[in-house]
Amino acid sequence: MNLECYRHFLTKDYLMGPNSLRILKELLERNPKPLKEDSLILDLGCGTGLTSFALCRETGAKVLANDLWISGEENAARFAAWGVGDKVTPVHENADNLNFARESFDAVVSIDSYHYFAGKEGYFQEKILPFLKPGGVALFGVPGIREEYDNKTIELLTPWLGEQAYMFRSVRQWKKILGEDPDMVSVEVFELDCFEAAWQDWLVLENKFARGDAAFWEQIIKPYTSFVGMIVRKKRKSVWIDILKSNSGC
Ligand SMILES: C[S@@+](CC[C@H](N)C(=O)[O-])C[C@H]1O[C@@H](n2cnc3c(N)ncnc32)[C@H](O)[C@@H]1O
Repeated sequence: MNLECYRHFLTKDYLMGPNSLRILKELLERNPKPLKEDSLILDLGCGTGLTSFALCRETGAKVLANDLWISGEENAARFAAWGVGDKVTPVHENADNLNFARESFDAVVSIDSYHYFAGKEGYFQEKILPFLKPGGVALFGVPGIREEYDNKTIELLTPWLGEQAYMFRSVRQWKKILGEDPDMVSVEVFELDCFEAAWQDWLVLENKFARGDAAFWEQIIKPYTSFVGMIVRKKRKSVWIDILKSNSGC
């Protein structure tokens, strides 16, 4: 993914925080299972849909672009203007109660959103895993707190984030929240390398939220926080079950 191709999209009209495309790029590069033209991707909490657009452009896949705060109509107009209206479909649903067919998606991607709705143990197993196809992958990137400070989150981050400080968790805490399941064959949780560059792309924008964050960059954001990446792979279907079924005429 060449970030230069998206330079014109990195504006206050489309970014809603640190550069979501840098985060997406890093996750796609670490993804062990490349997404392809015949994939179906759910972009969960897509905001203005910039990552949905990039996912479609980079992989050729169809994308369902789901968001809560931004309406489907608004995102549909953007996708049409960006020339991907036939492949990126807006959806307006609450991530707490998604209505898709089971095993629909080759990938569920969520950038700078998952911490709003998924910070409870069991959420992934109950609300995300059923919608992934066997062999599918979840790619999440969220702002978090560095591990060495995760026992002081509220104290350190409240001056910047107020009541939302609790949403910032460390690698260790996200590992625990994601938990385990026989269908989760691999769970990787790590700090993203693009942290500082993604923030710098945001802090230079003429936007009241970016200016608000800029006031806390040196004192709080840079020393105490990070971006946490999560990659979870769902177990493939056993080929033996398919062979047994076809041999038994089931
Ligand atoms: C900081 S914005 C990030 C948007 C986009 N992914 C990006 O990186 O630019 C967080 C997004 O999470 C979405 N969100 C928060 N809670 C949600 C929920 N319960 N269901 C679906 N989306 C949710 C919001 O609608 C919002 O657009």
